Amino acid sequence: MVKAVVLGAAGGIGQPLSLLLKTNPLVTELSLYDIVNTPGVAADLSHISTPAKVVGYLPPDDGLKKALTGADIVVIPAGVPRKPGKSILNAQVINAGIVRDLATGIATAAPKAFVLVISNPVNSTVPIVAEVFKKHGVFDPKKIFGVTTLDVVRASTFVSEILGDLSLAPKVVVPVVGGHSGIVPLLSQSSHPLPSGFAQESLDKLTNRIQFGGDEVVKAKDGAGSATLSMAYAGVEFANKIIRAVKGEKGIIAPTFVNLAADKEGGEALKKELGTDLDYFSAPVELGPEGVVSIKALGKITDFEAGLVKAAIPELQTNIEKGVTFVGASK
Ligand code: NAD
Ligand code: LMR
Repeated sequence: MVKAVVLGAAGGIGQPLSLLLKTNPLVTELSLYDIVNTPGVAADLSHISTPAKVVGYLPPDDGLKKALTGADIVVIPAGVPRKPGKSILNAQVINAGIVRDLATGIATAAPKAFVLVISNPVNSTVPIVAEVFKKHGVFDPKKIFGVTTLDVVRASTFVSEILGDLSLAPKVVVPVVGGHSGIVPLLSQSSHPLPSGFAQESLDKLTNRIQFGGDEVVKAKDGAGSATLSMAYAGVEFANKIIRAVKGEKGIIAPTFVNLAADKEGGEALKKELGTDLDYFSAPVELGPEGVVSIKALGKITDFEAGLVKAAIPELQTNIEKGVTFVGASK
């Protein structure tokens, strides 16, 4: 029995993400919460012939609490997407408040659930969830995840395009580390190496495209929002990995933005490798029934990649502090 909850389920990401969760036969209950439209979305999805029972909730009558009670996994795509020409930090204050309030609901109604944060800026919203959980005395760093899977998905797609064979895309694995800004694709570790003689200029371009994939979509949507469909795909890819790990499948690894206390030994080793005492970082993580089993080291990377990691750290630190301070300053 798996109860999955989507907070922000009526949105651009929330609807297709809920649809894809409904297609997972391991999900037996799908609970949809938003401030608008969830009864309609739930009624629509409930006609699909898969096992999950779908129910939509709105804020009145303790809707959030009812949606969350008994949750095993909670995915949060609630929040405002950025506007064209703005950075990923656009709307950060609005999203910070939304995520803080939803996290309070989870901490009280479903403190043991796995929490998957999509709302931007992920580098700040994940610390916000963690700080709220600390306030409620229910913080478990092994169970709170920033979803960076879209960066991973983009890396696989763009590398397979360079290799001239999109059919490779599902098989190409590129570890993506850093944060969900301050993204560093470790292309030297790609399961499918780039063509020999791949020029530095081309590597710069490919790296930049992965780092700023979000901009490409925001620009193309021209005022109608940011990535929603690819994000829903990526979010469910990660959620399904968590569900498979909970069901006992071993050896599942995915990059995700986590509190490094989730694996004391691995986290400390990673900090040493990075030469910083950051509390959060996105790195490949092994998943198990209780969440994070281990956080992987970066391993052998090129000087180019090491430079990108080093350059990402100060902004990452600022983003994390912003999230922590926001909750500290909240009543
Ligand atoms: P959207 O505006 O289409 O949908 C957001 C939904 O959140 C809306 O349905 C809205 O009603 C709901 N909402 C607002 N306040 C809420 C609250 N208090 N409780 C519950 N629901 C609430 O936006 P979107 O395109 O789906 O994007 C959502 C978020 O995801 C944005 O912050 C965006 O930047 C982020 N995002 C993250 C990634 C990533 O890789 N992590 C990728 C794409 C987008
Ligand atoms: C993305 O990577 O597409 C998202 O974080 C949305 C954005 O604003 O870039």
